[in-house]
Amino acid sequence: MDVAPFELERWFAEYEHDADVMLAESGVRSLPASDFDTDPGELGYVIPTKGAPDVRAAIADEHDRTADEVVCTVGTQEANFLVFQSLLSPGDHAVVVTPTYQSLHAIPESICDVTRVPLDPPEWTLDVDAVAEAIRPETELVVLNNPNNPTGRQHDEETVRAVYDLAVDADAYLLGDEVYRLLAEDPLPPVTSLGDRAISTSGLSKTYGLAGLRFGWLAGPSEVVEATERWKDYTTISPTKFGQHVARQVLTGREAELREDALAHVRANHEITAEWAREHGIDWPDPVGCNAFLEVPASFENSATFCRTVVEESSVVLAPGRCFGDAYDDYFRIGFGLPTAELREGLDRVSTVL
Ligand SMILES: Cc1ncc(COP(=O)(O)O)c(C=O)c1O
Repeated sequence: MDVAPFELERWFAEYEHDADVMLAESGVRSLPASDFDTDPGELGYVIPTKGAPDVRAAIADEHDRTADEVVCTVGTQEANFLVFQSLLSPGDHAVVVTPTYQSLHAIPESICDVTRVPLDPPEWTLDVDAVAEAIRPETELVVLNNPNNPTGRQHDEETVRAVYDLAVDADAYLLGDEVYRLLAEDPLPPVTSLGDRAISTSGLSKTYGLAGLRFGWLAGPSEVVEATERWKDYTTISPTKFGQHVARQVLTGREAELREDALAHVRANHEITAEWAREHGIDWPDPVGCNAFLEVPASFENSATFCRTVVEESSVVLAPGRCFGDAYDDYFRIGFGLPTAELREGLDRVSTVL
């Protein structure tokens, strides 16, 4: 099995460590560990290894599932990986809506045939008929990241339901990567509420600024959950004890307060970034969450040239659209979830380059 290099991670590896401002992080500013009790007691495995029943019950409540239909994972990344390994085999087929976080197509592509269905710019709308056309008799999985990274587009309930119905008609599953769901002011219900052919994955990295916890989950029908547990025994065995300890504090008491803080922060930064884009004549797509996929200014040849110039001249990291596929070389992703003073500093520096 071979897998394509993760272009965005490779780009970050080249520049992130030494740059002054990271203007391409996809989540909300990180919270300090001192905001939480960080003593989980004895450092044995988390038992049961799929996560403590009370933590799974809290996640299950949000997902119209039982605690048995939830598996806690090491980040959303592992949750997605387990779903792909469990549901896809050589000879199968998957449909993935793109552009998106690369692992959502790269892992399936390492296993079986994949058809990518592109969103339509400039609004990044999803053509449900294009999903219907992409589906084949051997399609096992349809993958939709909503709200979407990198575009910030949130597809409405009707569209998601239509995609789910297509998956059901094909005897396939819908995987909804919903790691940005709670960054919407009015979040959609998780796809698991649509029925027994839907799987939701998510985690605490993005909304709560807790990426270093590496805590995520998947929720879905029991046959899928059991299959993912079989794979998890060979990946990480259990989530981390520290991760679960802090996750419990978030999910069983502090969720509303922490989310409200994050939304207020994102709202303020959204305005600042939108204003900056307008000043430079760059179209602003009004994204959900704290990522925007913007057009590369006309004076630059492509996304790599632009982002390389910005990082080399001003020590600010942006994400080239090319990392999301060759078709997106006219775009760059800007992440505005960082602390507001850093955001202002980063935007000022990019302005100087422009
Ligand atoms: C759509 C999407 N899914 C999953 C992940 C990975 O999230 P986690 O840190 O919870 O593993 C990311 C991170 O950028 C993402 O954008």
